[in-house]
Amino acid sequence: MSEPQRESAGGWVGWLWRQPRNSLAKTLLVPALVSLVCAVLVAGSAMMLRPQQRANEERNRQENILAAAGLLESGGDVARRFADIEARVIDLAAGDFAPDLDAAAVLGEGGTGVAATRVAVPPALDIAVIKSRPRYVVGYFLYDDSALEMMILPVYGYGLWSTLYGYIALEPDASTVVGLRFYRHGETPGLGGEIDNPRWLAQWPGKRVYDERGEPAIEVTKGRSAEPDGARRRYQVDGISGATMTGRGVTNLLRYWFGDHGFGPFLQRLRERAEEKA
Ligand SMILES: Cc1cc2nc3c(=O)[nH]c(=O)nc-3n(C[C@H](O)[C@H](O)[C@H](O)COP(=O)(O)O)c2cc1C
Repeated sequence: MSEPQRESAGGWVGWLWRQPRNSLAKTLLVPALVSLVCAVLVAGSAMMLRPQQRANEERNRQENILAAAGLLESGGDVARRFADIEARVIDLAAGDFAPDLDAAAVLGEGGTGVAATRVAVPPALDIAVIKSRPRYVVGYFLYDDSALEMMILPVYGYGLWSTLYGYIALEPDASTVVGLRFYRHGETPGLGGEIDNPRWLAQWPGKRVYDERGEPAIEVTKGRSAEPDGARRRYQVDGISGATMTGRGVTNLLRYWFGDHGFGPFLQRLRERAEEKA
């Protein structure tokens, strides 16, 4: 702006322009403008990166599911491997699939959608300390032709410091464990955080969730099992030293999710259907 133009400029802009450089108004204006520009840049890049973030979250979810199932190959094509797995909605209260509901709608954006339909967990049953759970849950099913080969179910519950989120894969008998993986928790690295240690996780395959009476019996023992050759061993995984509380959290969350308020009725129905077919 030339000098005469600046002089003649009216309103508060003109007034501001005529202020000396070290005036209070100009001193405040500069940081205000810098903040505004930065805010626009940050908000703009957050918006632009959102699709990429979503794609990464989705890939991460797929990797965790494949890892629980022991199907994650290093360097393998995650999306292609995941394409073999069918995501199906389970209505926990009905103990059956909810065929009219689409998994994508249930998973929703950031967990909204029908997954937001929550059911309170009665305090007496709330051993996983989750207070409420979704009515509909997405399970992942691997079929060989039409025969079920494996199912991967989401589980979560409180450890010592945090909620542990994971997936557990089961054989078609709906009791034998194929694998377990936690993908989010805030337990102490080196103590409770050892639930991510592949050596600890390697104990899970082959363990049984349900005992012969059909009750969830799977457990993490305190330290090493007192009876390494005992009859209960098929339901037991050795605890992690210094992480008894986290181990108890794992036991509790699995027993909740495989109990009557969790996947219990659904898995019972799957077993009955398999017996009818056999
Ligand atoms: C800083 C700190 C962090 C801890 N983090 C955990 C943890 O993540 N999980 C856990 O079970 N115990 C943790 N503990 C230990 C528990 O307080 C408790 O002593 C332990 O669960 C008992 O297990 P132990 O009988 O195997 O020693 C932590 C203790 C301290 C001092």
